[in-house]
Amino acid sequence: MNADLSLEFLRVVEQAAIACGHTMGQGERDKADHVAVEAMRKTMDSVPIDGTIVIGEGERDEAPMLYIGEKVGMALSRADGKYPAIDIAVDPLEGTNLCATGAPNAMAVLAASDRGGLLHAPDLYMEKLVVGPSSRNAVDLDAPVHENLKSIARCLGRSVEDLVIIVLDRPRHESLIAEIRATGARIRLIGDGDLSAGIAAAVVGSGVHAVMGIGGAPEGVLTAAAMRCLNGEIFARLVVTKPEHEERCRAMGITDFKKIYRARDLAPGKQIIFAATGVTDGTLLRGVRFFGDGTRTSSLIMQNSPHQIRFIDSIHVTMKGDAKIRF
Ligand code: FBP
Repeated sequence: MNADLSLEFLRVVEQAAIACGHTMGQGERDKADHVAVEAMRKTMDSVPIDGTIVIGEGERDEAPMLYIGEKVGMALSRADGKYPAIDIAVDPLEGTNLCATGAPNAMAVLAASDRGGLLHAPDLYMEKLVVGPSSRNAVDLDAPVHENLKSIARCLGRSVEDLVIIVLDRPRHESLIAEIRATGARIRLIGDGDLSAGIAAAVVGSGVHAVMGIGGAPEGVLTAAAMRCLNGEIFARLVVTKPEHEERCRAMGITDFKKIYRARDLAPGKQIIFAATGVTDGTLLRGVRFFGDGTRTSSLIMQNSPHQIRFIDSIHVTMKGDAKIRF
């Protein structure tokens, strides 16, 4: 996969974020998601790839666009070139509620890899433990919470009381939250968005040291792609509790339902690109700003080979003629 593609994917997430940025705080989560999906889908077809969606908006019959298996990219409309075969995981609007309520950390996201480089995960829940580079070999998904927190604190050279752990605010996490509280560690409960939380946990200085709990499996694969670029780690296990879940796993080629995945299992690709643009202001990215003469976006583009992490601040000038650009 050509590294230059990262800037092509930047355009894709920027356009998705700008589209749903207009809906921020309008209380219309479906509309917010819909416009992000449409913008992402449209822009994707101007990217010079022979792309396949492997994590998307749902199965073919339940999602009109960006469904699993959908072909995207320039190869669709032009038979005149040789385009690289790329697998793509998308979340056009991660945190639909966050966008609909104007809450922090909504973003437009995608990950791309050489073919076969991203796990085809069913849209089930997934147990997750996400940590930064220093703790990646010191924790275990099945270890008691207090032991993992002790290990993370030791690796970071601080005490457990100085850790900040992000947990999705859900009834299913009641006992997890109690266990973390019992250690004295601090907790940030979030309404949505465990993907942006995972990225923050892998970036030194973000003020977040781990993410724990159960969230979506598609977000888990996207987190893994980000971890491959940030040298952080995700430990994850699908939550398979019904025969129907087992069937959905088998349909995607997964037969070991208890497997603990790490980033390299969820996103094994040799070359990974991860792109995200902030929709609302967040820990690492600012939200979309409309300033009359244009739009300003804040994005994170990462790749593992060549290894590069870029924070990109773009101004999209929409006014013809005398547009004023501010610092
Ligand atoms: P959406 O972008 O689909 O709204 O998902 C947001 C999210 O909070 C994810 O970050 C998280 O993994 C998942 O939903 C948790 O699912 P649930 O809301 O069912 O607990």
